[in-house]
Amino acid sequence: MVVVRDATYLDLSALERVRDSRIQFIDYLERADGEAMRFLVYEREHVLLAFAVLYLRQPPSGRLAAHLPRISDLYVAEEVRSTGIGSAFIARMEKIAAAQGFPVMHMSVDPVGNPRAAALYQRLGYVPAGEGPYRKVAYWEDDQGRVTEVEYWRMDLVKRLRPRRTRRS
Ligand SMILES: CC(C)(COP(=O)(O)OP(=O)(O)OC[C@H]1O[C@@H](n2cnc3c(N)ncnc32)[C@H](O)[C@@H]1OP(=O)(O)O)[C@@H](O)C(=O)NCCC(=O)NCCS
Repeated sequence: MVVVRDATYLDLSALERVRDSRIQFIDYLERADGEAMRFLVYEREHVLLAFAVLYLRQPPSGRLAAHLPRISDLYVAEEVRSTGIGSAFIARMEKIAAAQGFPVMHMSVDPVGNPRAAALYQRLGYVPAGEGPYRKVAYWEDDQGRVTEVEYWRMDLVKRLRPRRTRRS
């Protein structure tokens, strides 16, 4: 059985088996409030296989997310990629947003560094929003405090969600 649910601190070791990002996970767990910002995990038969952050409204703390609702940091365990989990997880997050009345979902992707993910999202109905790919700069600090500047491309995507069905009286 597949379950998509909010992550808790008890998931930390399972999350670390999917990606070695403990500090990032703790930050998500501290900031997620289960409403505006959800840190979600995807489990099949109680095995955690993927995670993602879903911003529905401006998060209570931390950086403000533009263009909401938004799927961010979607990540599927390497050994189970290309088996449909990413697509199914995206569909579940779209359902969550549509059930709350949101008409669209946003994502962004690096079309140069991650062309397969960009192709997947476009196959799932996401279309470029705005003026097309743009460059971004990020700064990474290593254990010795050395800072490296990394430049990458970003493309904003948007998908219109199916409106919620309203029951006829
Ligand atoms: C991108 C990602 C979330 C897709 O999840 P997934 O479960 O593999 O996706 P699905 O099985 O539903 O669809 C498979 C498609 O994903 C795309 N894909 C992107 N990156 C991929 C990867 N590293 N390995 C396999 N498929 C990948 C391909 O288009 C693939 O289609 P194909 O198998 O016909 O070539 C997943 O590959 C992943 O976690 N990658 C690393 C992290 C990442 O890039 N996250 C996205 C940031 S925007």
